[in-house]
Amino acid sequence: MMGPVYLPAMELVLDSYKPLLTTLDVSLLVDWEDAAAPGHPATFFSTKASRLDTVATKREVEAFGNVFHVLARVGGHPASTCTAFVHEGVVGIYDVATVEDLRRQGAAAAAIDFALLRARDMGCKTAILQAHKRSVGLYDRLGFRETGMFQSLYYSRTRMEAEAVAKGYRPPGSQP
Ligand SMILES: CC(C)(COP(=O)(O)OP(=O)(O)OC[C@H]1O[C@@H](n2cnc3c(N)ncnc32)[C@H](O)[C@@H]1OP(=O)(O)O)[C@@H](O)C(=O)NCCC(=O)NCCS
Repeated sequence: MMGPVYLPAMELVLDSYKPLLTTLDVSLLVDWEDAAAPGHPATFFSTKASRLDTVATKREVEAFGNVFHVLARVGGHPASTCTAFVHEGVVGIYDVATVEDLRRQGAAAAAIDFALLRARDMGCKTAILQAHKRSVGLYDRLGFRETGMFQSLYYSRTRMEAEAVAKGYRPPGSQP
Protein backbone atom coordinates (compact mmCIF):
# COMPACT_ATOMS: atom_id res chain seq x y z
CA MET A 1 0.00 0.00 0.00
CA MET A 2 1.24 3.49 -0.79
CA GLY A 3 -0.30 6.85 0.03
CA PRO A 4 0.08 10.24 1.72
CA VAL A 5 1.06 10.30 5.35
CA TYR A 6 1.24 13.28 7.72
CA LEU A 7 4.34 13.51 9.90
CA PRO A 8 4.52 15.99 12.78
CA ALA A 9 7.60 18.26 12.66
CA MET A 10 9.07 18.58 16.15
CA GLU A 11 11.71 20.81 17.70
CA LEU A 12 13.64 20.97 20.98
CA VAL A 13 15.73 23.80 22.46
CA LEU A 14 18.99 22.19 23.57
CA ASP A 15 19.97 24.83 26.15
CA SER A 16 17.14 23.70 28.41
CA TYR A 17 17.47 19.97 27.64
CA LYS A 18 17.75 17.82 30.78
CA PRO A 19 19.72 14.57 30.23
CA LEU A 20 17.96 11.27 30.86
CA LEU A 21 19.06 9.02 33.66
CA THR A 22 19.65 5.75 31.83
CA THR A 23 21.58 2.64 32.79
CA LEU A 24 21.66 1.39 29.20
CA ASP A 25 24.93 1.05 27.30
CA VAL A 26 24.91 3.82 24.67
CA SER A 27 27.77 4.78 22.36
CA LEU A 28 28.63 5.94 18.86
CA LEU A 29 27.88 3.20 16.36
CA VAL A 30 31.27 2.05 15.11
CA ASP A 31 30.91 -1.70 14.55
CA TRP A 32 29.58 -1.77 11.01
CA GLU A 33 30.26 -5.50 10.53
CA ASP A 34 27.50 -6.14 13.07
CA ALA A 35 25.24 -3.52 11.53
CA ALA A 36 24.90 -5.42 8.25
CA ALA A 37 23.60 -8.51 10.04
CA PRO A 38 19.85 -9.25 9.88
CA GLY A 39 17.87 -7.78 12.76
CA HIS A 40 20.29 -4.94 13.53
CA PRO A 41 18.43 -1.67 14.24
CA ALA A 42 20.71 0.36 11.90
CA THR A 43 19.07 -1.31 8.91
CA PHE A 44 15.54 -1.39 10.33
CA PHE A 45 14.17 0.79 7.51
CA SER A 46 16.03 -1.09 4.74
CA THR A 47 14.74 -3.85 2.58
CA LYS A 48 16.69 -7.09 2.75
CA ALA A 49 18.05 -6.31 -0.70
CA SER A 50 19.31 -2.85 0.29
CA ARG A 51 20.75 -3.62 3.74
CA LEU A 52 24.39 -3.53 2.61
CA ASP A 53 23.80 -0.31 0.65
CA THR A 54 22.30 1.29 3.74
CA VAL A 55 25.35 0.40 5.80
CA ALA A 56 27.67 1.70 3.06
CA THR A 57 25.73 4.98 2.86
CA LYS A 58 25.72 5.47 6.62
CA ARG A 59 29.48 4.93 6.76
CA GLU A 60 30.01 7.28 3.83
CA VAL A 61 28.05 10.19 5.31
CA GLU A 62 29.81 9.67 8.63
CA ALA A 63 33.06 10.61 6.88
CA PHE A 64 31.68 14.15 6.30
CA GLY A 65 32.31 14.83 10.01
CA ASN A 66 28.95 16.44 10.77
CA VAL A 67 27.04 13.15 10.84
CA PHE A 68 27.13 10.52 13.55
CA HIS A 69 25.21 7.36 14.38
CA VAL A 70 24.29 6.19 17.89
CA LEU A 71 23.66 2.68 19.19
CA ALA A 72 21.89 1.75 22.45
CA ARG A 73 22.24 -1.82 23.69
CA VAL A 74 19.88 -3.77 25.93
CA GLY A 75 21.48 -6.72 27.73
CA GLY A 76 24.44 -6.45 25.37
CA HIS A 77 22.29 -6.70 22.22
CA PRO A 78 22.07 -3.91 19.61
CA ALA A 79 18.62 -2.50 20.38
CA SER A 80 18.15 1.00 19.02
CA THR A 81 19.90 3.40 16.66
CA CYS A 82 19.51 6.93 15.42
CA THR A 83 21.44 9.17 13.05
CA ALA A 84 22.27 12.82 13.72
CA PHE A 85 23.11 15.48 11.10
CA VAL A 86 24.67 18.67 12.46
CA HIS A 87 24.48 21.89 10.45
CA GLU A 88 24.77 25.53 11.51
CA GLY A 89 23.74 25.00 15.13
CA VAL A 90 20.89 22.63 14.32
CA VAL A 91 20.92 18.86 14.74
CA GLY A 92 18.47 16.74 12.77
CA ILE A 93 17.61 13.37 14.30
CA TYR A 94 16.79 10.66 11.74
CA ASP A 95 16.23 6.91 11.39
CA VAL A 96 15.18 6.26 15.00
CA ALA A 97 14.43 2.55 15.31
CA THR A 98 14.44 -0.18 17.94
CA VAL A 99 14.33 -3.88 17.11
CA GLU A 100 10.89 -5.25 17.90
CA ASP A 101 11.70 -7.56 20.80
CA LEU A 102 13.72 -4.91 22.69
CA ARG A 103 11.15 -2.10 22.62
CA ARG A 104 9.63 -0.27 25.58
CA GLN A 105 12.83 -0.47 27.61
CA GLY A 106 14.00 3.08 26.99
CA ALA A 107 16.49 2.22 24.22
CA ALA A 108 15.27 4.78 21.67
CA ALA A 109 15.09 7.50 24.32
CA ALA A 110 18.63 6.64 25.45
CA ALA A 111 20.02 6.75 21.88
CA ILE A 112 18.36 10.12 21.18
CA ASP A 113 19.54 11.48 24.54
CA PHE A 114 23.13 10.56 23.63
CA ALA A 115 22.76 12.26 20.23
CA LEU A 116 21.28 15.43 21.76
CA LEU A 117 24.06 15.77 24.35
CA ARG A 118 26.77 15.20 21.74
CA ALA A 119 25.15 17.70 19.39
CA ARG A 120 24.97 20.25 22.20
CA ASP A 121 28.70 19.69 22.85
CA MET A 122 29.25 20.35 19.14
CA GLY A 123 27.58 23.75 19.55
CA CYS A 124 24.02 22.96 18.48
CA LYS A 125 21.19 25.05 19.92
CA THR A 126 18.20 23.30 18.39
CA ALA A 127 17.21 19.71 17.57
CA ILE A 128 14.62 18.90 14.92
CA LEU A 129 12.96 15.73 13.65
CA GLN A 130 10.02 14.39 11.71
CA ALA A 131 7.95 12.17 13.96
CA HIS A 132 5.53 9.43 13.15
CA LYS A 133 2.26 9.70 15.03
CA ARG A 134 3.06 6.48 16.96
CA SER A 135 6.37 7.96 18.21
CA VAL A 136 5.20 11.48 19.15
CA GLY A 137 4.87 10.42 22.82
CA LEU A 138 8.50 9.34 22.95
CA TYR A 139 9.76 12.65 21.52
CA ASP A 140 7.34 14.68 23.60
CA ARG A 141 8.69 13.15 26.82
CA LEU A 142 12.21 14.11 25.74
CA GLY A 143 11.02 17.71 25.37
CA PHE A 144 10.35 17.99 21.63
CA ARG A 145 7.34 20.11 20.69
CA GLU A 146 5.29 20.01 17.51
CA THR A 147 5.97 22.95 15.17
CA GLY A 148 4.21 21.88 11.98
CA MET A 149 3.27 19.00 9.72
CA PHE A 150 5.05 17.37 6.77
CA GLN A 151 3.21 15.52 4.07
CA SER A 152 5.10 12.53 2.78
CA LEU A 153 4.51 9.24 1.00
CA TYR A 154 4.08 5.95 2.78
CA TYR A 155 5.76 2.98 1.11
CA SER A 156 5.01 -0.59 2.04
CA ARG A 157 8.23 -2.47 2.84
CA THR A 158 6.84 -5.67 1.29
CA ARG A 159 6.02 -3.81 -1.90
CA MET A 160 9.41 -2.05 -2.03
CA GLU A 161 11.18 -5.37 -1.61
CA ALA A 162 9.06 -7.05 -4.29
CA GLU A 163 9.73 -4.16 -6.70
CA ALA A 164 13.49 -4.29 -6.04
CA VAL A 165 13.59 -8.03 -6.66
CA ALA A 166 11.43 -7.65 -9.81
CA LYS A 167 14.02 -5.18 -11.15
CA GLY A 168 16.68 -7.86 -10.66
CA TYR A 169 18.24 -6.25 -7.59
CA ARG A 170 19.75 -8.87 -5.25
CA PRO A 171 21.76 -8.52 -2.05
CA PRO A 172 25.44 -9.21 -2.87
CA GLY A 173 26.27 -12.88 -2.28
CA SER A 174 22.67 -14.09 -2.60
CA GLN A 175 21.60 -16.79 -5.07
CA PRO A 176 19.92 -15.52 -8.27
C1 LIG B 1 9.22 4.30 18.00
C2 LIG B 1 10.33 3.38 18.51
C3 LIG B 1 11.66 3.87 17.94
C4 LIG B 1 10.37 3.42 20.04
O1 LIG B 1 11.49 2.64 20.48
P1 LIG B 1 11.60 2.14 22.01
O2 LIG B 1 13.01 1.71 22.22
O3 LIG B 1 10.54 1.19 22.31
O4 LIG B 1 11.36 3.53 22.76
P2 LIG B 1 11.38 3.76 24.33
O5 LIG B 1 11.48 2.45 25.05
O6 LIG B 1 12.42 4.79 24.61
O7 LIG B 1 9.95 4.41 24.57
C5 LIG B 1 8.79 3.72 24.09
C6 LIG B 1 7.75 3.54 25.18
O8 LIG B 1 8.25 2.64 26.17
C7 LIG B 1 8.06 3.22 27.45
N1 LIG B 1 9.16 2.72 28.31
C8 LIG B 1 10.45 3.13 28.31
N2 LIG B 1 11.14 2.43 29.23
C9 LIG B 1 10.26 1.56 29.79
C10 LIG B 1 10.37 0.57 30.77
N3 LIG B 1 11.54 0.33 31.38
N4 LIG B 1 9.27 -0.14 31.08
C11 LIG B 1 8.09 0.08 30.48
N5 LIG B 1 7.91 1.02 29.51
C12 LIG B 1 9.00 1.75 29.18
C13 LIG B 1 8.14 4.70 27.22
O9 LIG B 1 7.53 5.41 28.25
C14 LIG B 1 7.40 4.82 25.90
O10 LIG B 1 6.01 4.84 26.15
P3 LIG B 1 4.94 5.50 25.12
O11 LIG B 1 5.12 4.84 23.77
O12 LIG B 1 3.63 5.20 25.74
O13 LIG B 1 5.25 6.96 25.04
C15 LIG B 1 10.06 1.90 18.10
O14 LIG B 1 8.75 1.54 18.43
C16 LIG B 1 10.30 1.63 16.61
O15 LIG B 1 11.41 1.33 16.20
N6 LIG B 1 9.23 1.76 15.80
C17 LIG B 1 9.33 1.49 14.37
C18 LIG B 1 10.16 2.56 13.67
C19 LIG B 1 9.64 3.95 13.95
O16 LIG B 1 8.45 4.19 13.90
N7 LIG B 1 10.57 4.88 14.24
C20 LIG B 1 10.23 6.23 14.54
C21 LIG B 1 10.15 7.01 13.31
S1 LIG B 1 9.73 8.72 13.65
